[in-house]
Amino acid sequence: MRRYRVLIIGFGNVGQAFFRLLSMKKDAFNADVQVSEIIDRRRGHIINPGPNVVDEARSGRLLGRRIDIDEVPQLIEESDADIVCEFTDLNIRDRGEPAFTYLSTAIRSGKHVITTNKGPIAFHYDELMELSRRYNRLVRFKGTVMAGTPSFNVLELLPGASVNYFMGILNGTTNFILTRMYEGMSFNEALRIAQERGYAEADPSLDIDGWDAALKAIIISRVLGWRHSLEGMEVRGIRDIDIRAFGDKIVKLIAFANKDVAYVKPMALDRGDVLAHVNENLNALRIGTDTLGDIMVIGPGAGPMETAQAVLTDLAYIINRGY
Ligand code: HSE
Repeated sequence: MRRYRVLIIGFGNVGQAFFRLLSMKKDAFNADVQVSEIIDRRRGHIINPGPNVVDEARSGRLLGRRIDIDEVPQLIEESDADIVCEFTDLNIRDRGEPAFTYLSTAIRSGKHVITTNKGPIAFHYDELMELSRRYNRLVRFKGTVMAGTPSFNVLELLPGASVNYFMGILNGTTNFILTRMYEGMSFNEALRIAQERGYAEADPSLDIDGWDAALKAIIISRVLGWRHSLEGMEVRGIRDIDIRAFGDKIVKLIAFANKDVAYVKPMALDRGDVLAHVNENLNALRIGTDTLGDIMVIGPGAGPMETAQAVLTDLAYIINRGY
């Protein structure tokens, strides 16, 4: 059986959930997939982690050699892993760095990459695709949009279909907050619960102010060949929202794009619209196609285990292509 060695970068909620899920679902792959290394800012450089590493990691203490953040690219380069799984936090101020450096270093040193981090994909899509072609290594990023729920990857099942537009609820945290606000809970209390459950970004203003949904809309757009970017995109969130102002309609934070325009903003939906009834931390994506008309996918879009499923999806893609 072909053996794949995996290097995990970032061992927080998602990294730990992936480690657990992989050990539970090993039989899902027609290959022997093993985590051979973990690199984490706080937990250090762990080589050949044992089965208890997730329990040990909970404390946040050092579990391997202490590392300086600047040496991470060199560690990636020197690693003998076949696949790098990158799970560091979204950083929008530095336009997806240092994750982009980690991914590009991995590809240049002959490794496939899987990331759940929106920053490097949304800000460096063209460069990563170019590196992927040049080095014949795959770049997979399912977990960046709607966690493990099929989103842009459903298009792999629809050869020939062209997409006219998409619209959806792409942020679980704000959808959870709005759902709770309709039940009478305060914004702050709902946010606190969303954070507790691991839905929110490390910096929750990325969720609340619409940036997370905007990056996801950009990523879907780039997959479709549209060239939207944060510059020139209308992005509004739900920070000061008053749900009573929308009367009988239901307000949702909606991301929309066609080839000419992309935006994220709170929109009042008719009660007859399916999107109006997508609640809790669920996400939904409606894709308008020329061959099928509208299709829609609904499912969890946030949460550690939900995101770890996306990594399994990407792993299977790489393995099934026989790399
Ligand atoms: N913070 C994100 C959300 C996590 O709430 O949807 C998944 O990208």
